[in-house]
Amino acid sequence: MINYKENQECKTAIIEINRPTQLNALNNKVITDLSDKLNDIEHTPSIRSVIISGVGDKAFVAGADIKEFQDFTTERAIELSKSGKIKLFNKISHFSKPVISAINGYALGGGLELALSTHIRIASSSAKLGLPECSLGLIPGYSGTQKLPQIIGVNLAMEMILTAKMINAEEAHRIGLVNHVVEQDNLLEKCLKICKLFHGTSPEALSSAIKSINSCYLNEGDDVESREFGALFETDNFKEGVNAFLQKRKPNFN
Ligand code: COA
Repeated sequence: MINYKENQECKTAIIEINRPTQLNALNNKVITDLSDKLNDIEHTPSIRSVIISGVGDKAFVAGADIKEFQDFTTERAIELSKSGKIKLFNKISHFSKPVISAINGYALGGGLELALSTHIRIASSSAKLGLPECSLGLIPGYSGTQKLPQIIGVNLAMEMILTAKMINAEEAHRIGLVNHVVEQDNLLEKCLKICKLFHGTSPEALSSAIKSINSCYLNEGDDVESREFGALFETDNFKEGVNAFLQKRKPNFN
């Protein structure tokens, strides 16, 4: 479910999510594999940074796997949200080495939340980004409601989340959601170039800088998000939203 390689020259680990037929949707196995791999990398001093991307040229990650969670109760949904944050999303945010997302296509829902957890986001010019959960009768459950406003401001985050709209890479760059936009063929090269710049810094300093920068974000909103996310699983409109997606039709919300 994930590919792994190392670029020795840049001292970088490159992880690719490998479910292209499902647009690299994050199922439980992918989350666990990513989490385990990050644990290994954390304890490998020769690796100074991490790049996360998706296999293929269509999707970075098109969201959490809707097929896996469609029948969840409130309790299981809260557990999904909280355990995902502990196992993966918060682990990346607080990782002691810089993590870069190479956004090579759709970054939607949990996919954009994965990118939001990374420290630097580089998009290919064909990338499309959004948090479409409200169109499924849900809200983002992996810190999207917390991190998106921190990065692009409450004003624009409200609009993106409440309208469920997707934006292109150019717009994402304009509003500060991604650091750089490059052609798809140059995406990895651009990320590796940034990784090389880390060689001129101290690993301890980068770890402290990440910790310190993240501390400007401390709040309790993540608990509210998990609770509200779970409660929506009991609604008829959520069932309608998911059924409509799976049946490839427009939802008919009450
Ligand atoms: N979870 C599970 N499966 C997903 C998925 C997701 N988040 N996103 C895409 N897939 C699957 C599709 O069900 C389809 O599988 P199938 O061939 O077995 O039917 C396959 O990936 C290809 O997707 P498809 O919808 O046919 O591609 P498309 O080019 O027509 O549309 C998207 C691409 C990204 C616009 C569309 O797949 C989409 O809207 N995905 C869901 C995005 C979303 O709501 N994410 C938030 C989840 S919380």
